[in-house]
Amino acid sequence: MPRAYLRLNHGLTQAFQLIRGLVDGLWLGLASRRVLYGIDAAFYASQGQYVAEEYTRSGLTDWENAAVSEYFQHCTDIVVTGAGGGREVLALAGNGRRVTGFEPNEGMVTFGRTILEGRSDASLLVAPRDGWPALDATFDGAVIGWGSYTHIAGRRRRVDFLRQTRSHLVAGSPLLVSVYTRPSRTRYHRAVRWVAQPLRALRRGAPIDLGDGFAPMYAHHFTREELAAELADAGFRLEVWRPRPFAHAVAVAVDPLE
Ligand SMILES: C[S@@+](CC[C@H](N)C(=O)[O-])C[C@H]1O[C@@H](n2cnc3c(N)ncnc32)[C@H](O)[C@@H]1O
Repeated sequence: MPRAYLRLNHGLTQAFQLIRGLVDGLWLGLASRRVLYGIDAAFYASQGQYVAEEYTRSGLTDWENAAVSEYFQHCTDIVVTGAGGGREVLALAGNGRRVTGFEPNEGMVTFGRTILEGRSDASLLVAPRDGWPALDATFDGAVIGWGSYTHIAGRRRRVDFLRQTRSHLVAGSPLLVSVYTRPSRTRYHRAVRWVAQPLRALRRGAPIDLGDGFAPMYAHHFTREELAAELADAGFRLEVWRPRPFAHAVAVAVDPLE
């Protein structure tokens, strides 16, 4: 009996993953980029924490703190992308450090500015999704805000985003990026690709990669190797990869003459 129950439980979990993969594949195959952005905006609008003062003042998480104290101690001008309501911006600013954050969700930026008001060492800008705002500045450290890289749909767009980031950094600058992960081949992601790939091809849309899916907004789930390759294509060298408690990497902006 107990074994029969465990087998049933496992079978149901697998079946559910498959069904979810087929349904999400349909959405990913048919949805325009505008719809994907809309799902993302609606999801984050429903998450009150990103416009809550207590959360915004809660500081860096332990894993962020460890990465920052190991790799960012000499940084004086840091950029935070996907900055939400400014949690990382606020935590990093001060003690001689200036921090510029940007974020596509205007509601979060409006809220964050009320928290940063009066500070000369921290600012928050509205940015286009997947991109940088017009910013004529160079930084010596970059934090891709918690989880935001995972929401940039498509490898080409993600690498373009990293290249823009690289163009604003001096050589040798550290970059912190955090992502959702997956084991190399999951049933869910294979089902998503199986359905979405032909639909995208019919619509002449951007290709689907294994790892694309919803969580519940668009999210690419990475392997370490995929993230290292995207970083390398944009001029960064992976220094450290820590899969837990929230997967993240620290990379370094490579000197083009190296
Ligand atoms: C998990 S929240 C983290 C926010 C903030 N960094 C923090 O830790 O409080 C992820 C952020 O990514 C942003 N985001 C979602 N899609 C994005 C995209 N395509 N390009 C840039 N940022 C995006 C969201 O608006 C949201 O602010």
